[in-house]
Amino acid sequence: MDEIPVIHQYHASDRAELFDFIREVQPADVSARMIAQWRWKFEDNPFTSPERPATDIIRIGAKLVGLMAGFRVKLWLGGIECFAEDRGAWMVHPDYRGQYLWRQVMPLPPLDTPIRMGWSKLPLRVHQKVKWLSDPVRPLVRVLNAGALAAHFAHLPGVISIGAAASAAARLAAAPFRAKPDPAVIRLDSFDDRVDALWERARPANHAMVIRDRRYLNWRYCQRPDATYLLFGVERASKLDGFLVARVTDRGGLRWGYLVDFIAADNSRDLAPLIRAALEEFRRQQVAAVLSYATAPAARAALFRRGFFPAPQHKPIRFVRFFHRGRTDLAQFTAISSWHLTMGDGDLEMS
Ligand SMILES: CC(C)(COP(=O)(O)OP(=O)(O)OC[C@H]1O[C@@H](n2cnc3c(N)ncnc32)[C@H](O)[C@@H]1OP(=O)(O)O)[C@@H](O)C(=O)NCCC(=O)NCCS
Repeated sequence: MDEIPVIHQYHASDRAELFDFIREVQPADVSARMIAQWRWKFEDNPFTSPERPATDIIRIGAKLVGLMAGFRVKLWLGGIECFAEDRGAWMVHPDYRGQYLWRQVMPLPPLDTPIRMGWSKLPLRVHQKVKWLSDPVRPLVRVLNAGALAAHFAHLPGVISIGAAASAAARLAAAPFRAKPDPAVIRLDSFDDRVDALWERARPANHAMVIRDRRYLNWRYCQRPDATYLLFGVERASKLDGFLVARVTDRGGLRWGYLVDFIAADNSRDLAPLIRAALEEFRRQQVAAVLSYATAPAARAALFRRGFFPAPQHKPIRFVRFFHRGRTDLAQFTAISSWHLTMGDGDLEMS
């Protein structure tokens, strides 16, 4: 029998067989979530072309034994725009693991989509072997109901350091800082063309970031089939000066709030009222703790001022990325310090 692994581009005609593969490989809750998201995430993504999907499968003979699923996003790298493949789901059938199947067959990304990126819980050595860059990114936490959180984490090591950090952060957040009254923070149903104008004003001159345009944002936060987001905006006259996307979710018996995504034309002025409005809504919805990821210094400063602190983590999630060597113009954006990331980038928050 032919035992040579062969890579194929995914097509919609593979879908039914692929869903059976996912059900066989993953626990029931994970496979149900992947299948519920599949078309939205991997097929109807606005930037994934049906001719060249960012999803590949491996077959050995006729049998489907591997999947690497992704979607395309548009990136801004200090003035250069290009596509990236967000490769979130990597799977090998249990009978075929430990054979480095993907290393044998995975081609380089094409020059017009020169970056592959994603989030991973696997150790650094796994990424280094395939020449992916890999850096831990730690979540920021804000405690709203310390009692509920302490009861939840009582059995875990690290709870003492969470408690100490939380009290210090809460003291900071309680300090008076409101120099001016807040601008009007409104709730949005979706993103209109004002957000394109906001992106032009807010995009970072010298950093890398997923482009927040109307097409991307409406797909990401208004069309997702298995989650609902809260959209907040700062409005002045008819202009949108900033937005924040939040989500409430119940996990492991605890109610969590996520500050998923945010940009503002003037961070020092407009992030604070957006964060404050989201925290007020979280309190109304009886959220116990809030999670956010932010690497931009201005966003981190705004979160720290509202009582967020870096959460201690035994095995932090890693932001991983691969750059096509032919694109030397992108070399200055390989370092993690040049990326402005939030929880909304990639599929970190899609579970
Ligand atoms: C993760 C998975 C795809 C690995 O498949 P595989 O065929 O065993 O992987 P490979 O043979 O290509 O191994 C690649 C490297 O990853 C390491 N690795 C694989 N699974 C690992 C795990 N769960 N934890 C730590 N390292 C792991 C291997 O040891 C190997 O490292 P080495 O070069 O130092 O020997 C497979 O276990 C799987 O499908 N798991 C379920 C889905 C999943 O968890 N996906 C990962 C999402 S990031």
